[in-house]
Amino acid sequence: MAEIVVVESKQAAGELVALKIRGLIESRADTVLGLATGSTPLPVYAALAQSLRKNPMDVSRVRGFALDEYVGLPEGHPESYRTVITRDVVRPLGLTPTLICVPNGEIETLEHAGADYERAIEAAGGIDLQILGIGRTGHLGFNEPGSSFASLTRVKTLAPKSRADNARFFASPDEVPRHCITQGLGTIRRARHLVLLAFGAEKAAAIAAAVEGPVTASQPGSAIQLHEHVTVVLDPPAAAALANLDYYRYIWANKPAWQGI
Ligand code: PGA
Repeated sequence: MAEIVVVESKQAAGELVALKIRGLIESRADTVLGLATGSTPLPVYAALAQSLRKNPMDVSRVRGFALDEYVGLPEGHPESYRTVITRDVVRPLGLTPTLICVPNGEIETLEHAGADYERAIEAAGGIDLQILGIGRTGHLGFNEPGSSFASLTRVKTLAPKSRADNARFFASPDEVPRHCITQGLGTIRRARHLVLLAFGAEKAAAIAAAVEGPVTASQPGSAIQLHEHVTVVLDPPAAAALANLDYYRYIWANKPAWQGI
């Protein structure tokens, strides 16, 4: 079962996960992180950046793989995930830019971009800790409902709901690309530790389906139930639809502190 941790705020969630990442980097300087974009993981990056400012450590060998990218946005577009990862992760944390990969969404090389990405992840020794958000559709990365649990990095068509959700980042809804290239659910399941974060009432249904619903391709988030090491970090509104919430709180309250997440 996934470990469910309900914290009081996004900031507390960020600090919990940042502490875990610090520990990983301390134990292995070339730790491989799976990096999500969107609003959800921002408190993790902010907490980690703050922690590194206060208490510096060498992160120059840390490697990273973004979860997904839009197809067809011109290089340098402010909403391309390459740009977002550089702005929100690489610069604030002081990571080495050449060690941070983002799927290639250029039309010209799209045919082999997925296979290239899988090879790069494999060559890095696989992802140690994969940060994840979840969409209102239940998507992980951009694996919309119906995605195979065995899927690898490939081109997908964004669900209309996901395009509408991401329209807030663009000047107009029409500008949101229709296609993306995303790590597959199979890729995500190969990571050694999944850390899924969700905040706000609008994520409560997707979280309940992912954690407690049937394992089904109709709810891509439910793929986490097939993984042996998953931590789900929620604020109270995102946790509100969980049937066994009291039990999860009880488990966490009684967990020996040394175990961490
Ligand atoms: P959000 O997106 O973090 O911006 O809510 C999450 C997702 O779509 O996976």
